[in-house]
Amino acid sequence: MAHVTASVYTSHVPAIGAALDLGKSGEPYWQPVFKGYEFSKQWLRDNQPDVIFLVYNDHATAFSLEMIPTFAIGCAAEFEPADEGWGPRPVPTVKGHPELAAHIAQSVIQDDFDLTIVNRMAVDHGLTVPLSLMCGQPGEWPCPVIPFAVNVVQYPVPSGRRCYQLGRAIRKAVASFDAPLKVQIWGTGGMSHQLQGPRAGLINREWDKRFLDRLIADPAELAQLPHIDYVREAGSEGIELVMWLIARGAMGDESGPGTPRVAHRFYHVPASNTAVGHLILENT
Ligand code: DHB
Ligand code: FE
Repeated sequence: MAHVTASVYTSHVPAIGAALDLGKSGEPYWQPVFKGYEFSKQWLRDNQPDVIFLVYNDHATAFSLEMIPTFAIGCAAEFEPADEGWGPRPVPTVKGHPELAAHIAQSVIQDDFDLTIVNRMAVDHGLTVPLSLMCGQPGEWPCPVIPFAVNVVQYPVPSGRRCYQLGRAIRKAVASFDAPLKVQIWGTGGMSHQLQGPRAGLINREWDKRFLDRLIADPAELAQLPHIDYVREAGSEGIELVMWLIARGAMGDESGPGTPRVAHRFYHVPASNTAVGHLILENT
């Protein structure tokens, strides 16, 4: 059977992608950011998954105000990098895993989560920047990726509690897929940032660090946090962090023998307008 081996959590700042694509990753501003991912790139080579289930948000790129799915699962064989206004990033096409995606859709929908099935979708920085941070600049991504888009852009957005429960349902779905696949689940976006209005530029280090502590040790309780708390404390775009709870929900329990192991933890302020947070948890 397939199983979830590990989870990766990371911010997805678009300027990080631009820094890589334009050959600026060695500049003093960017060096500390990329340094935080050196361990992670080696870790991914040492812990090569068969499939990555990548939870991210679309930024009005594939979807617009015309259509706003709360949870959308990419079931296609391929996903092209999106043109976000400067041409598509020069990164490989994302290859999907239609069989596992269809199985997860079947299982999770029968478990009462109403996913939108997507058979054609361009993927924006929310998905490609985490891949770049973890893989560098390869000619091909190391394995198939199932894109899972969450609406955190247009209210109403899903609660942390629902995201955490959805993670549980995804874990169950993966465990019932009849092939011995190693699946990683990645939760992306965040940490604290606000791109708009009078509080633009807001970053809250203390809150972010506490979020990381609680995500590791006490995710069920963290999942009870209402979204207004994210917005007040972590800024309007800090709400992206509910996606980390999907990945965390798909991991082992926080108490008892199933407690995940912290393989790596990193935090850096700022990159562009955002606090960069990053965590790798392994199932034991
Ligand atoms: C920035 C961060 C984001 O999460 C995003 O989607 C766009 C911009 C930023 O920090 O500039
Ligand atoms: Fe974002």
